[in-house]
Amino acid sequence: MTRPRGALRVRVRGEGPQSYSVMVGSGLLGAEGGPIARLARGRDAALIVADAGLPTQLVEAVESRIAGVGVRVARVGVRAQERRKSLATLELVLAAAAAARLDRGGLIVGLGGGVVTDLAGFAAAVYRRGVDSVLCPTTLLAMVDASVGGKTGVNIEVGAAGTGAGAPRLLKNMAGAFHHPRLVVCDVAALASLSLRQLRAGLAECLKHGLVGAGAADAGLWGFTQRAIDRLAHEPLHERTLAALVGRHAAYKARVVAADPKERARGGAVGRMALNLGHTFAHAIETLPGLRWPAPGGAGPAVRGPLLHGEAVGLGLIAAADLGESLRRAEPGLALAVEGALGRAGLPTRVGGLPASDQVIDRMLDDKKVLGGRLRVIVPTRARRAALIDGPDRGLVARAIDRLRA
Ligand SMILES: NC(=O)c1ccc[n+]([C@@H]2O[C@H](COP(=O)([O-])OP(=O)(O)OC[C@H]3O[C@@H](n4cnc5c(N)ncnc54)[C@H](O)[C@@H]3O)[C@@H](O)[C@H]2O)c1
Ligand SMILES: [Zn+2]
Repeated sequence: MTRPRGALRVRVRGEGPQSYSVMVGSGLLGAEGGPIARLARGRDAALIVADAGLPTQLVEAVESRIAGVGVRVARVGVRAQERRKSLATLELVLAAAAAARLDRGGLIVGLGGGVVTDLAGFAAAVYRRGVDSVLCPTTLLAMVDASVGGKTGVNIEVGAAGTGAGAPRLLKNMAGAFHHPRLVVCDVAALASLSLRQLRAGLAECLKHGLVGAGAADAGLWGFTQRAIDRLAHEPLHERTLAALVGRHAAYKARVVAADPKERARGGAVGRMALNLGHTFAHAIETLPGLRWPAPGGAGPAVRGPLLHGEAVGLGLIAAADLGESLRRAEPGLALAVEGALGRAGLPTRVGGLPASDQVIDRMLDDKKVLGGRLRVIVPTRARRAALIDGPDRGLVARAIDRLRA
């Protein structure tokens, strides 16, 4: 059994009286009497929704910590793939909860990357019209982004038989609910088994926060994040750096969410939509087959697509910064600085095999932010804030996309 090291706590204000903690440290998941056991104590049953990609010891450790406080524990494994972040998998999870006879006081534990935490959170939102959840993100991306803020959901596939015309395509997070967990546990020791590629993908979301940090009173987040990236370039699993990174980014996200819990900012305020920086571009390119880009540091053969979500977000940040520069909202050279930071993080900055920009823009029009058929894109500004551009010039958007071509 491990002892937790250096735990820090970030408070997240949900809606109304609801608030919860994000705990960040090393060894938190395996710790006897740790935070999950404290939350589970006194309940009848818990269901662990476990990422099938995790080392078995980690899942078993969490299971025995909960069982150790006298709670019945059931487990359901989920393969973390976007195609499986679906209503069909949700039904499997709900069926597992019902088979385990979880009552209204039951606890759903989401243990895994963002696919699993989004799915487990959604299951907790709808099972018996809502039960408590605890999210234990095990990827950097899920720690700094997906598990904080109460957004849960699944993807919807359209174009399959009977669901409309066109080629089948996956629309991300089209069904979901706002449902805050009771607790988030970020154990940076769990990142040890994550691939370097997945770890780097999480750094792209950190850079995203950094570019708009001043909007939530953290103008220094851009510099802080770059320093952490430079440290991790030498030692990717440096626990103190990882814990500091996760803590500061979770705190940033918590403030954004508290100011605009349901993404309904009005009167020119961007609110939570700032977190969509780069994502309108990213969602249009992240499922594309046939992309290719150089391996980090030029070591080894080229990597072939599709991109990971975080990798696509990194490219989206470059395009958004480029558009921000064209519109004179961002300072000249910002897109170049973003490219530099992504490069130091080992993330792609250019890809071969992108379709024509018009086609990419058509895919961007599937985005949730589209209103009345008009594109809406978030760009970073000079002041490290986010601005929402309603109906940007199509030529400028095409130019931003062209910048991503290898
Ligand atoms: N709810 C939100 O606010 C929000 C925000 C950002 C992203 N998301 C969602 O998060 C998802 C992406 O999450 P992700 O980047 O974590 O990817 P992921 O969940 O697909 O996980 C990536 C891979 O890592 C594996 N894995 C996870 N933890 C591991 C570990 N510790 N050791 C070894 N392997 C491990 C998984 O099995 C998977 O193969 C997307 O679906 C995205 O829409 C949600
Ligand atoms: Zn994202």
